[in-house]
Amino acid sequence: MRVKILRQASPATEPYWQEFRYDYNGNQTVAGMLDELNYKDDLVDINGDPAPRIGWECSCLQGMCGACAMVINNRPALACETFLRDLKGDTIVIEPLKKFKTISDLVVDRGVIQENLKKADAYIEEYKGAQAKEYEHMYAAGKCLKCGLCLEVCPNYGDGSTFYGAVFANDCYLIASRSGSRENAIRESYKTNFAKGCSKALSCVDVCPMKIPTLASIAKMNRKRPKR
Ligand code: SF4
Ligand code: FES
Repeated sequence: MRVKILRQASPATEPYWQEFRYDYNGNQTVAGMLDELNYKDDLVDINGDPAPRIGWECSCLQGMCGACAMVINNRPALACETFLRDLKGDTIVIEPLKKFKTISDLVVDRGVIQENLKKADAYIEEYKGAQAKEYEHMYAAGKCLKCGLCLEVCPNYGDGSTFYGAVFANDCYLIASRSGSRENAIRESYKTNFAKGCSKALSCVDVCPMKIPTLASIAKMNRKRPKR
């Protein structure tokens, strides 16, 4: 099988395509394949020319950390959850997430997710216990990996955008649920940085590896502030 990777040595250099050959193993994941390619001290490309090791990130290798998010055959996905047997064709095309700055090859800087929370002043301050009826959805929304896949597919999210996307909507819900004095402020931030920009394309829900019901977070945030 051929593996075509969009590579970039550093943020200051131009991206370029490089192809590799990989002995097909259908039970292997994309993450496992990248790992195997990188095992070799003498990694060569499809033309036999020496190639630097492929930059990519992983931690858990079981869909729990979000580090390995990338674009595989035009679909944003977790590399450790994507099996080669499920991909069509004999060439796999792998690219870094495009909505974030590339650091090296498939490694991107997703710090903007946290920076957006800071910009929106989304923090709890005085803690208030959540209502018991919210526990189930809080558990679901709390599974967010901050992988960024939802931002990658969102037609409304872009670099420098004041619309912060599904990850922000879920975070606002979680913060507002436990916030005492700042709940109204969080709800205002949600309106400014999410509600005004969301066109309900909901591609974020389809792509989310944790199957977070973002629509429920949106509905809960759109309601009036519940009485405690
Ligand atoms: S909401 Fe889902 S897709 Fe978006 S960052 Fe969280 S886990 Fe990833
Ligand atoms: S390595 Fe943790 S989600 Fe893939």
